[in-house]
Amino acid sequence: MAAVSTSWALHLLPLLLLIATGKATTVNITNRCSFTVWPAAVPIGGGIQLDPGKSWILQVPNDGTGSSQRIWPRTSCFFDSKGNGSCQTGDCDGLLSCKGNGQPPTTLAEYTIGSFNSADFFDISLVNGFNVLMGFLPVPTKGASGCSKGPRCAANITSQCPSQLQAPGGCNNACTVFKQDKYCCTNASNCEPTTYSLVFVRMCPDAYSYSMDSSSSTFTCPTGTNYQVVFCPPIDLTSSPPNPPAPIVTTKSKRSPSNGIIILMIGSGVGFIFLVAFIIFIVRRQITRRHQKMEEEVEDFGNLQGTPMRFTFQQLEVATEKFRDKLGEGGFGSVFKGQLGDETIAVKRLDRAGQGKREFLAEVQTIGSIHHINLVRLIGFCAEKSHRLLVYEYMPKGSLDNWIYYRHDNSAPPLEWRMRCKIIANIAKGLSYLHEECMKRIAHLDVKPQNILLDENFNAKLSDFGLCKLIDRDTSQVVTRMRGTPGYLAPEWLTSQITEKADVYSFGVVVMEIISGRKNLDTSRSEESLHLISKLEEKVKSNHLEDLIDKNSNDMQEHEHEVIEMIKLAMWCLQIDCKRRPQMS
Ligand SMILES: *[C@@H]1O[C@H](CO)[C@@H](O)[C@H](O)[C@H]1NC(C)=O
Ligand SMILES: *[C@@H]1O[C@H](CO)[C@@H](O)[C@H](O)[C@H]1NC(C)=O
Ligand SMILES: *[C@@H]1O[C@H](CO)[C@@H](O)[C@H](O)[C@H]1NC(C)=O
Ligand SMILES: *[C@@H]1O[C@H](CO)[C@@H](O)[C@H](O)[C@H]1NC(C)=O
Repeated sequence: MAAVSTSWALHLLPLLLLIATGKATTVNITNRCSFTVWPAAVPIGGGIQLDPGKSWILQVPNDGTGSSQRIWPRTSCFFDSKGNGSCQTGDCDGLLSCKGNGQPPTTLAEYTIGSFNSADFFDISLVNGFNVLMGFLPVPTKGASGCSKGPRCAANITSQCPSQLQAPGGCNNACTVFKQDKYCCTNASNCEPTTYSLVFVRMCPDAYSYSMDSSSSTFTCPTGTNYQVVFCPPIDLTSSPPNPPAPIVTTKSKRSPSNGIIILMIGSGVGFIFLVAFIIFIVRRQITRRHQKMEEEVEDFGNLQGTPMRFTFQQLEVATEKFRDKLGEGGFGSVFKGQLGDETIAVKRLDRAGQGKREFLAEVQTIGSIHHINLVRLIGFCAEKSHRLLVYEYMPKGSLDNWIYYRHDNSAPPLEWRMRCKIIANIAKGLSYLHEECMKRIAHLDVKPQNILLDENFNAKLSDFGLCKLIDRDTSQVVTRMRGTPGYLAPEWLTSQITEKADVYSFGVVVMEIISGRKNLDTSRSEESLHLISKLEEKVKSNHLEDLIDKNSNDMQEHEHEVIEMIKLAMWCLQIDCKRRPQMS
C-alpha cells in the first residue's frame, strides 16, 4: 500500500514542479519597523529573522488549486546557547522555521493565489490578535488591473489597546480574553460590535475581525499580481495618493526679484486660474466616476440571470411599516417582518450601506436560482442607491436556537424526539441539495442553529447564504479565509483547506446540540464541560453516551436507543479527517 502511494507521488512530483516553475507570485515582505521581526509563512516559506530595512522574497507557485497561505510576524524572539530560537508569538517548538500557525496575539496576513475565476484573495485578519502593524498591497504587474486597494493598519497599539486586552507584545482579541458570545458573535442576535472589539476596527479599519466581517475586509486581484507585505508601514501610505499640483509652486518661486511684483501678480493670477481649473477638473472627474460606478452597479444587478423580483425601497418601507417589527439580527443586518398582499415576508436590511455588496450579490444569485423545500426561499431584493435588502419567506417559528437550548425562563416544552429527528433530517436534506444536487456545488460554511429557521409545522430550512462559496465541480476544494462561527468550525479551518465537508462537521455539532439541548460552546459552564464535543469524546471513552441526552425531556430519555444511534451518526460527521466524514446524502 505504502509502496504504491510512494511511486504514485514520485510520478506526480515532476508534474508539480513543472506547474510550479510556470507561474509564481512574488510576495515581498519588508520590515520597516525599528525592531527585528521574525516572520513565519505557511505552507510556503517557513520562518526567518528579518532585521529593520530588510526584505524577504517569497515565490508562491500558482498550482491551480488556489491554496491558502498565511504570513505572520513573530516578535520578542531570542536564541539559547544551542542556537534554538523561541518567540513570544508562535515559537513553533523552538524552531524559527516552522510549519504551524502562530499563537495570539499576532496580526495575520492571509491570501489565496489563483482560486475561482483566476482571482487572488487577500486580507489582514485580527482574529488572533494584533502585534505588528501591517500593510498588504498589490503590486500590479504590467497589464494586470482590477485590484482592490489592499488593507493597511496604521495605529499605535500601545496607546490604543485597552488595558484589559493588553498582552505581552500586542493586543488580544476581545473574544480570546472574555470568551463571551457577544465578543465572538456566536449568538447572532447578541452580536453587538462592542467597545472592546471596535478597538480593532479603529486600529485597522480594513482588516477582518470579529466585529468586522464583511466583503470590505477581503481584497481581490487578478492572478499574476505580485504583493508587498510591509511591517510597520509608514503612516502617509494610508492617506490619499501624494500628487500635489506641483507646477504652481515652481513658477512662483523661480522668478528674478527685479520685475518681481508684476510677474508675481501674473504668476499668481495664472496660478490661481490653474488652481481653479484643477479643482474643477478633479470635481468633474469625481462626479463622472461616481456616475460610472452607479451605472456599473445597476449593470451588475441588471445582468443577474433568473433573479427573483426586484422591489423599490419605498415598496419595502410600506410593506414593513417603516421597519417597525424587528424579528432579529443576523449576519450583515437586521430582519423585519412585513406584509406583501396576503403573504407575510421577512425583509433583511443590510446595515452598512455600500458594504457587503459581494455577499449581497452572492446571496441574490445563489438563493435566487435554487429552490428546495428545506432552503429558505428568496422572494426578491432591493438595490437602490446604498440600500440593500433581501425579501424572504416568513418563518413563523423563528430560528432553531430558540427551541433547542434549555433555559429556566423558557415556557415552551422541550421538543419531542420525533420532532428533533424531523428537524435533523430536514437540515440534512437542505445541505445534501446544496452539496450534491445543484448545478454548482455549494458549501454553506455557516451551519448553526441561528441559521436554521422553522416554519409553522417545524419544517426546518437553511438560511443565510451570505457566507457561502460556490465550488466548481471539478476543483475539489475551495479555500477562503476563516469564516463561520466559533464552536461550529471544522478543524480544517486551521489549515484553510475547506470543502463542503466542513458543513458536515458543523451539521454534526448541530445534531449534538439538538440531542443534548445545549450549546457546543457554553461559557456559563464549568471548564470541563465547556465544550460539548470534548464531552462527547470523554463519554465515548467511558461508554456513557446516554449522559449526553437532554435531561429536561422525558421523551428523549425514553428513546435512548434511537438517540444513541443518532449520536453515533453525529460522531461520524465529527471526524477530524474530513475525507472520512460521510456525504450529506
Ligand atoms: C521589496 O520591497 C522593498 C521595499 O519596497 C524594495 O526596496 C525592494 O527592492 C523589493 N524587492 C524586490 C525584489 O522587489
Ligand atoms: C535545540 O537544538 C538541539 C540541537 O540542534 C536539539 O537537539 C534540541 O532538541 C533543541 N531544543 C529544543 C528545545 O528545540
Ligand atoms: C504610542 O503611544 C505611546 C503612549 O501614548 C507613546 O509613548 C509612543 O511614543 C507612541 N508610539 C508611536 C510610535 O507613536
Ligand atoms: C442570544 O442573545 C439574546 C440577547 O441577549 C438572548 O436573549 C438569547 O437567549 C441568546 N441565545 C442563545 C442561544 O444564547
